Amino acid sequence: MNWSDGYNIDVEYTFKYFAYLSPVYQRFAALLNGYDLPPASEDAVHMELAVGQGLSINFHAACNLGSFIGNDFHPSHALHAQQLAARSGLKIDLTDDSFEQMLNRPDLPMCNSISIHGVWSWISDQNRLHILNIIKRCLKPGGVVYNSYNINAGSMIWKPWRDMMKRFYDCQKGSEIDRFEATIQYFKEIFDKNPHIMQDNLALQNKWNHMTSVSQDPHYLLQEYFNEHWDSCDTSEMAAYFEEAKLTLIGPANCGHVWKFLEFSGDTLQFMLNQTSPLLYSSWRDLLLRTSFRSDLYVKGGQFLSEQAIFAKLNCYRFVLTVPAKELKNNIFQSDYEYDEEVFKALQETFSAQDYEPKTFLQLYESVKALGSSQTDLLIFLVSKMQVGQVQVCASKVNQTLFVQSQALNKVLLESDDYQFKTDTLVSPVTGQGVLVDWSHRVVLQLWLEDIHMADDVVLTRFIAQLRRNKKQFFNLDKTILSREDEKTFFLEHILPSAKSYVPIWRQLGLL
Ligand SMILES: C[S@@+](CC[C@H](N)C(=O)[O-])C[C@H]1O[C@@H](n2cnc3c(N)ncnc32)[C@H](O)[C@@H]1O
Repeated sequence: MNWSDGYNIDVEYTFKYFAYLSPVYQRFAALLNGYDLPPASEDAVHMELAVGQGLSINFHAACNLGSFIGNDFHPSHALHAQQLAARSGLKIDLTDDSFEQMLNRPDLPMCNSISIHGVWSWISDQNRLHILNIIKRCLKPGGVVYNSYNINAGSMIWKPWRDMMKRFYDCQKGSEIDRFEATIQYFKEIFDKNPHIMQDNLALQNKWNHMTSVSQDPHYLLQEYFNEHWDSCDTSEMAAYFEEAKLTLIGPANCGHVWKFLEFSGDTLQFMLNQTSPLLYSSWRDLLLRTSFRSDLYVKGGQFLSEQAIFAKLNCYRFVLTVPAKELKNNIFQSDYEYDEEVFKALQETFSAQDYEPKTFLQLYESVKALGSSQTDLLIFLVSKMQVGQVQVCASKVNQTLFVQSQALNKVLLESDDYQFKTDTLVSPVTGQGVLVDWSHRVVLQLWLEDIHMADDVVLTRFIAQLRRNKKQFFNLDKTILSREDEKTFFLEHILPSAKSYVPIWRQLGLL
């Protein structure tokens, strides 16, 4: 076997950012799962293993206190991550070491966090052992580990199909993309001729839809489904494996347990409420909801907090809207569950008061308490809006360096043509996380960063020039392309007013 160890190295991975890897976010999520991680500090060290193209580690190194270390054995990935750091003036210890080489480095520091995203289920047992040994060697007491992996409950009926597809793919000729397309075509014919196969297998249906969705990048799909390794496990197996490194599972990074009242009802809800251990709760949840993927947090030592202690600490955490209040929807995700209308309006008002200045949990709670809302109701609101990128938790400590570093990274992301379409995320020193900013807003923001008083007609002219340069088009509701004249009207009537409504928010987030 060559250096790839069975990993698909012939194509490069996509440019994705993941907020769950942010130290600020992990500290918040750990608290909701019952653990108070040590406070952010300049001495903290954060490790991310297999960073891919390295957007997350660059973003987090720019806007979080402490130093960052990461690896990815794909030289093109490591190079991209290093170049982005160099262009932004960030000092990150980034190498193209494999996990094995990383483990054998004599200079590895003791870390406050070790994060691994989208890796575990796609590598060999030997490489998993290297990761475990890195954690054993480098995680400080009180440190946190983030890991994500495929779960048996939702993956077992799909796995034989993925293995069959991989065998077919291996026998094809041509480039990776040619072989991928041939595989999709072959299996499509089988599924078209035998529709009952899909009808009987929901997991297969979901994965097939995922694989064939037009919005999916084949580079991502090749690494997701056509690696040598594609495994899944039970949460309990994973927890037992990590126990060797003195780790305890504390719960999901998305804090999904907060909305258990929406996932379960009646006797099942009562049964789930009785599962007080995070491991048992997670294992039952996996089975009942047929989970296929989890992102979990583990800690090395620490005391489990009572619910009262969690809320007492939470009271001081600050939260900020990342979209104008009028863009919030009065429901959870796409569900029918609606918040009480009065409570929802009160939260919109509180959040947007004082030009969207961040508000503490206590301030938010004070604004809805008299309306009958509980602390848990408020938490469900905050966590569910975080999942759709409309609310973020703020860092407890920020310094001038983080502002300067974030501005430098954002400048690279905004000004270089190669990032126009690679990422839709900028970085906020206030929240220690990436913030979604869509393409048209990014263009306007970049002009306002040059001159906040730039006249609207100048902004319009330069926006249209950017539109042409990037060969970007806008569409009517009926999906026809806007004429050049209509583009100007569309900009003045929609994009510019919308960007203006974001100005106070971008200021609070440190983007402007
Ligand atoms: C699916 S990508 C995920 C990348 C990144 N964590 C993310 O989520 O965007 C998996 C990454 O693991 C890296 N990788 C696989 N095996 C490795 C090994 N043995 N040592 C170091 N990196 C490895 C690959 O090069 C690839 O970039």
